[in-house]
Amino acid sequence: MTTEKVDLRGAAATLLMTLYMHAFDARSRRPILGDPYAQDVLDRIDYDAAALRRTTGDTSAVVSRAKRLDEWTTEFLVAEPAGQVLHLGCGLDSRPLRVRPPRTCRWIDVDQPEVIELRRRLYDVPDHVESIPSSVTDEAWWDRVSTDRPTLVVAEGLLMYLTEEGVHALLGRALDRLPRGVLAFDAVAPWTVTASKWTPEFRAVGARFHSAWDRSVFESRYPALQRLDDVSVYDMAALAEPRLWLRPALFVAGALPPLRDSMRLHRYRFGR
Ligand SMILES: C[S@@+](CC[C@H](N)C(=O)[O-])C[C@H]1O[C@@H](n2cnc3c(N)ncnc32)[C@H](O)[C@@H]1O
Repeated sequence: MTTEKVDLRGAAATLLMTLYMHAFDARSRRPILGDPYAQDVLDRIDYDAAALRRTTGDTSAVVSRAKRLDEWTTEFLVAEPAGQVLHLGCGLDSRPLRVRPPRTCRWIDVDQPEVIELRRRLYDVPDHVESIPSSVTDEAWWDRVSTDRPTLVVAEGLLMYLTEEGVHALLGRALDRLPRGVLAFDAVAPWTVTASKWTPEFRAVGARFHSAWDRSVFESRYPALQRLDDVSVYDMAALAEPRLWLRPALFVAGALPPLRDSMRLHRYRFGR
C-alpha cells in the first residue's frame, strides 16, 4: 500500500496525536470509543510512530471526550434531524462516519486548508457531508452556513489552540448568525497553557495552547447561554480506564482540582 507523506506543523500536527490514540484505543482489549476507522486511516499515512507512541498516556481522556461528544451529537440529531452540525477543527476524526447523520441534516466539517485536503483524500465520507477549508476564526466561511437551521457547534480539541480573541470572534459569529442550537466543546485550565510550552511532543511540532477556560468570565460574556453540562474529562477517563488496577489511583489523584479541571467538556444551549 502506498502511504501519504504528512507534513503538518503547529496545531494541525496534533490531529495525528488524537488519531493515533483513537487507533490505540480501538486495538485495546476493552476499547472506550472503539473508532473503527482510525487504524485504516493511520495505515495510509507516513508518520513518526515513535513520536506518537509517546502521547498514548492521554488515550483514555481523549477517547472518553470523543465518546461523550458523539453522544451529544447523536442526541442533537435525534431531536433536530433537519438541523445543522458544524464540526469545527475536525482534523482526521471520523465523527460523521461514527454518528451517521441523517440525509435531512446539513453536516459541515471545518479545518485548515491543508487538513481538509488530507481529509478528503483519506476518508470516503457520504456526499451529504460537506467540508470547508478555512481557519475557524475567518469570517468568510460563515457565508456557507445555513442561518435558519438549529445548529450544533461541536469543537473537540480546538479552542485551546486559538487565542482568546479568536475564540470570541468564532463564538460571537456563531451566536449572532445561528437561530438556536447547542455549543459543545472542551477547554483547558490555565496551568496547562504554560505546561504546553514545555511538552516535548508539542515542542517537536511547534504546537502549544493559547487560551484557557474561566467559567465566570465566559458566562458573564454570554449571559443568554443556558448551561447544560460541565464535565471533568479526567473524571470520565478515570471511570472508563480499561486498566482496572489503575482506577483507584486515578480517583485519588482526581480529588486534586488542578488534575480534575485540567480539561473539561462544556455544553450550552442558545437561542429559543
Ligand atoms: C488536537 S487536533 C483535534 C482534531 C479532531 N477534533 C480530533 O479530536 O481528532 C486540533 C485540530 O484543530 C485544528 N485547528 C487548530 N486551529 C485551527 C483554526 N484556526 N482553524 C481551523 N482548525 C484549526 C487543527 O488543524 C487540528 O485538526
